[in-house]
Amino acid sequence: MPGDSELFDAAVAASKRYAADAHGGPVGPNQAQLDALAAFANVSVDSPIGAHAALELLDTVGSPATMRSTGGRYFGFVNGGTTEEARAAAILAGAWDQNAALPAMSPAASALDAAAADMIVDVLGLPQTSTAAFCGGATVANITAIVTARDSLLDRAGWDIHEQGLLGAPEVRVIISEEAHISVHKALRVAGFGQQQVTVVAADGAGRLDATKLPSVTGPTLVLAQAGNVNSGHSDPFNEIIDAVGGPDTWVHVDGAFGLWANAVPDRRVHVAGVERADSWATDGHKWLNVPYDCGVVICADGEQLRRSMRMDAAYVPDGGEARTLMSMGLQMSQAARGVPVWAVLAARGRSGVADLIEQSCRCAERFGETLAAAGAEVLAPVVINQALVAFGDDATTDRVVEAVQASGVCWMGATTWQGRRAMRISVSDLSTTFDDVDRSVAAVLDAWRSL
Ligand SMILES: Cc1ncc(COP(=O)(O)O)c(C=O)c1O
Repeated sequence: MPGDSELFDAAVAASKRYAADAHGGPVGPNQAQLDALAAFANVSVDSPIGAHAALELLDTVGSPATMRSTGGRYFGFVNGGTTEEARAAAILAGAWDQNAALPAMSPAASALDAAAADMIVDVLGLPQTSTAAFCGGATVANITAIVTARDSLLDRAGWDIHEQGLLGAPEVRVIISEEAHISVHKALRVAGFGQQQVTVVAADGAGRLDATKLPSVTGPTLVLAQAGNVNSGHSDPFNEIIDAVGGPDTWVHVDGAFGLWANAVPDRRVHVAGVERADSWATDGHKWLNVPYDCGVVICADGEQLRRSMRMDAAYVPDGGEARTLMSMGLQMSQAARGVPVWAVLAARGRSGVADLIEQSCRCAERFGETLAAAGAEVLAPVVINQALVAFGDDATTDRVVEAVQASGVCWMGATTWQGRRAMRISVSDLSTTFDDVDRSVAAVLDAWRSL
């Protein structure tokens, strides 16, 4: 298929228009824009429309029905935006269309992957000897790390899982907080752990595992801790946990999908103190680093354990003995060159530039908490990083405020249940959010509340 520069120009023009519009209009689509989405299903594979008409439909129907999660006033879930250099790098990487599975498949993707992985370990303040590998997201990173931990703990117990399988293997106990993220539960199921192997430990009022409630540990044990509770943003007390249950038969994994990035900011490190003492970590680039979807990262203090669990060999695959072969460091074989936009952000902004942006998100979350509290709302947990949880009187009122805010189009926040109370969840995960965005959003929230 020959290149079509007109089509390319049209795609660039549509992308530019979209990006230029990101900070202005409503955050979510209206009903007419949602109804228009039926146009996609109305195209039949028996009557193809051609490349230009397809792009036209994407632009005119798709773009207006997106969520403006890149505009500074989207505070839903923990959905990050994208920085301009990450977006630019992703556009070029899209044209490259490299498969990053093997160095032989793409020297450029491979070099960028290695450089970006080292930068991530460095910026996150993890042991310099750790190994990072990119994957689809923190869920995949949690699965990868938990499988690696399982294999390693069994190996230490004299059981070769690759030879002997799981049946009849020594028991591996799992310790987990009642506030662990759902992706960790999925990862445990995928790795062959059932509820009978799992001890659930109570959490405190901020969602941090209560280390005084840890059971005593004997035999192979996988401890699952968390940096950044998906609602409150608080992290488990890593030092206390590792002092209590760490040891030669223990593997401590930290799910730090977004919260691990607090360790990139000198003033916020206190909230994740001791996190570097773990054996493995899961995090995301597509959340707080603001690279485009999808980009997760699994990090192991001992990269050999990761390679041992994830390796893939075949006669047609060159064994160049390279230090990094991504298909042997994660679940996927073929994969996007996820390191490219990560490298672009870290190269463009550097350690302090990224730290400043993350700190700005934290300050915006604090501003939400302070101004809403001053207006009479209830902040349900101290704001320590980028998350704020707010209630507006009783549960029904809180839900109605959230619905009214979403309908306003000024900003978008979701709802959750936090320790028995309905709450508005505010996640400042777009690095472009400013105090002005916060103030406009607070005004919309207060308007919604007063109008009830
Ligand atoms: C603490 C935590 N862990 C894991 C995940 C899953 O991340 P992903 O959606 O990238 O798989 C999330 C997502 O919000 C999260 O907040």
